[in-house]
Amino acid sequence: MDWPALREAVANCQACGLCEKRKNTVFGTGSVQADWFIVGEAPGENEDLQGEPFVGAAGQLLDNMLRAVGRSRSGEGTQGVFISNVLKCRPPANRNPQPAEVAQCAPYLARQVALVQPKLIIAMGRFAVQSVLQTNEPIGKLRGQVHRYQGVPVIVTYHPAYLLRTPSDKAKAWADLCLAMETANTPLRR
Ligand code: URA
Repeated sequence: MDWPALREAVANCQACGLCEKRKNTVFGTGSVQADWFIVGEAPGENEDLQGEPFVGAAGQLLDNMLRAVGRSRSGEGTQGVFISNVLKCRPPANRNPQPAEVAQCAPYLARQVALVQPKLIIAMGRFAVQSVLQTNEPIGKLRGQVHRYQGVPVIVTYHPAYLLRTPSDKAKAWADLCLAMETANTPLRR
């Protein structure tokens, strides 16, 4: 599937029950030529309304984290990111994604990664990490190592919504971003 076909497939998807209550699918955003690919969990209420990922408070923190490493969702190439989620539709009342929903939606993420061909993937939060790495290990055990997905290096970190609730872990998230920069071999611009 090319980009237009993939967009259309997501927009019309009825593979799981989440299609019944959604206002919009949330395909993803950013540059399709970005060399970093960010994977979040699932759209929340604002994302469902706007059809865009990470537009709420967690999104603001994500934008700040990206700015700290010289990137933004409007940047291109080495200054850009593509941002997507494991699930393209909002789970009702923001409940956790169910395994069957993740399994149905996973091929869309896989195809997005194959089309972007990023140099680095950052998986944010338990559901993104466990889905991308096919593991049940907790984030604390997986951080600090370079994993692989479709041959692309994967860095594991906390979800921005978790960091808003637990600011004491922001230092660890910064360490994860530093590992990401080291891994992608892009120097920090000061
Ligand atoms: N949390 C996510 O994981 N993704 C979004 O798009 C918004 C909030």
